[in-house]
Amino acid sequence: MQGTFLYHNPTKLYFGADAMRYLPNELKQYGKKVLLLYGSGSIKRNGIYEQVIDALVQCQKDVAEISGIMPNPTVEKLYEGLTIARAHGADLILAVGGGSTIDYAKALAASIHCNEDPWEKFYARMEEPDNLIVPVGTILTMAGTGSEMNTSAVLTNTKLKLKKGHTFKSADAFPRFSILNPNFTMSLPEYQMKSGIFDILSHILEQYLSGEDDCPSDYIAEGLMRSLIHASRIAVQNPQDYEARSNIMWDATWALNTTIRCGKPGDWMVHKLGHSLSALTDATHGMTLATMSIPYYKRIMHAGLAKFVRYAKVVWGVDPTGKSEEQIAQEGLDSMRAWMQEIGLVLHAKDLGATPEMKEDFVKGVTIIQSGPYRVLTKEEIGEIYLESL
Ligand code: NZQ
Ligand code: ZN
Repeated sequence: MQGTFLYHNPTKLYFGADAMRYLPNELKQYGKKVLLLYGSGSIKRNGIYEQVIDALVQCQKDVAEISGIMPNPTVEKLYEGLTIARAHGADLILAVGGGSTIDYAKALAASIHCNEDPWEKFYARMEEPDNLIVPVGTILTMAGTGSEMNTSAVLTNTKLKLKKGHTFKSADAFPRFSILNPNFTMSLPEYQMKSGIFDILSHILEQYLSGEDDCPSDYIAEGLMRSLIHASRIAVQNPQDYEARSNIMWDATWALNTTIRCGKPGDWMVHKLGHSLSALTDATHGMTLATMSIPYYKRIMHAGLAKFVRYAKVVWGVDPTGKSEEQIAQEGLDSMRAWMQEIGLVLHAKDLGATPEMKEDFVKGVTIIQSGPYRVLTKEEIGEIYLESL
């Protein structure tokens, strides 16, 4: 391994079918004022809300709620939440939901004591908070983003047609604790489960398909991918299979909890492409990545050929006998595409509402990463990838 890095991940995790019993002990460690955050109400239908309220009542918390946090949360929703948060005060933000609710919680936590406009400071100028970050705790209901154990918060600015992420540098921005009960993901619509599965694979690939040195992170990444692909097939056949859902949940956390980032430059262009598509269509995150991945990887494969060959052999079991490196790498991508089809992912951006006319706005919305990817794309190529993805 050639890279240098700082590794520090302070999030405490409770994992398993009885993980919720640790919530009161965690709550006791914070002051009285709690802000409870959730989305459009799935937690009221599946009974999680009641369990959370019971724990809050038991700990005699003074609770205010911010609900209706939408998938791909917007900056306007952040402003709305800031008013509630500042009026109530917050010793702890408790986010119950998927990546959208948890990301929103982190953005809110950094913004409550910030005197400037949070979009301008954290997303336009990409500065770090110089104010107190309110502690966040999470109860995860959807496996995918890894937000439960990282410092990223992605927001959409609908007026500017931009979706941007900020990975906060301060250790205070990690969730203090996260509760992961695989049973809480059982009520997910299958579309969301599948989208989450692809998001996990994409997070691993964004880190794995970069760099050329021999790096332990790559070996961990390969194990995670094999586990994910195996569990995904079981979960798609039987979504109520606890073991598969539990493995997917744990794979998701490890995919983006900063561990396999160690020593890796990282690529992240599939996410930049997906975010631009999402800003224009409001499509589900993992599905946007599914439409962009193959067209993108086909373009950069030759520049990172040795790694694409390793990916094909180790993860997809491609037999290299008698084949050129290009053929092996291409077969790896073909196997990946076949699996995507098998588990029912969206493969064409037009099925997410994208049209050829959106090309110009799409290209404008993509940040081209200059260091990390095997090859830096031109704007023309971004446009071509977009048209191919349709
Ligand atoms: O609104 P609710 O009721 O919560 O319903 C949600 C939402 O409609 C539903 N859902 C979640 N858990 C459920 C459930 N429905 C029934 N039962 C359950 N147990 O699923 C829908 C999608 O939820 P959402 O939170 O939007 O999904 P996800 O976890 O995929 O989060 C997506 C957001 O995270 C960002 C994405 O860009 C997107 O904005 N990301 C965050 C990252 C991070 N923090 O590191 C990295 C990712 O690459 C990603 O960019
Ligand atoms: Zn993602």
